[in-house]
Parts: sequence; C-alpha cells; structure tokens
Amino acid sequence: MDGERLFLDNCAECHQVDGRGVANVYPALDGNETVAGSGADVALVLIIGRGEMPSFRGALSSAEMAAVINYVRNAWSNRGEPISAGEIDAL
Ligand code: HEC
Repeated sequence: MDGERLFLDNCAECHQVDGRGVANVYPALDGNETVAGSGADVALVLIIGRGEMPSFRGALSSAEMAAVINYVRNAWSNRGEPISAGEIDAL
C-alpha cells in the first residue's frame, strides 16, 4: 500500500504536495499538532470529515487510511508511530 501515492491522489489537492497547505484555507499537515498527536486522531478526521474536508469513509479502506496516515505522520518534518488497519477498524 503506497501511502505517498494515496496522499497525492486524495489529499494533496488541498493540503499540497509539500504538506504546507494553503494559508487560511487548508491547514498545513507538516508540523501539525493533530498529525503529530496520534494516528487515531488523524483517522477520526478521515472517518468523520471536518469542516470543509470531506469524510473518506467508503472512499478509502481501513488499510488505505492506515497507509496514508502513516505517510503524513512520517513525511516532511513529522515523525510518528504507525497505526494499523485493525486499529482503524476499531474506531
Ligand atoms: C477538499 C479539500 C481537502 C481534502 C481533499 C483533504 N483535506 Fe484535510 N482538511 C481540509 C480542511 C479545510 C481542513 C480544516 C477543517 C476545519 O478544521 O474546519 C482539513 C483538516 C485536516 C486535518 C486536521 C488538521 C488539524 O489542524 O486539526 C487532517 C489531519 C487532515 N485534514 C488530513 C487530510 C488527509 C490525510 C487527507 C487525504 C486523505 C485530507 N486531509 C484531504 C481540507 C481537505
């Protein structure tokens, strides 16, 4: 499962390839507190959606969500422990 590919296909149009987002429109994911916090918190944003951001429930499988979350949590300056598809299923 290629997390970078999933990010480019599903997230980069808003959050940008460099993870810096667009000022006052799309938050940066590089250095973002939620992204740094826990994979489960990021998973909840993807499952539920938030504000202008659509839910990815149905659009991405749990395995795909895990791959893209693990990518953003370890891309750019971010470093975080991986989350598994099973942990996402449990949410
Ligand atoms: C259509 C544009 C759009 C797409 C596509 C999108 N997002 Fe978002 N995202 C947003 C917006 C807007 C917010 C801020 C929502 C709010 O707080 O009101 C956000 C918020 C977030 C947050 C929370 C940031 C914080 O500061 O709490 C995370 C994490 C996130 N997005 C990750 C992703 C990931 C991963 C993907 C791809 C699977 C993705 N987003 C796709 C627009 C988008």
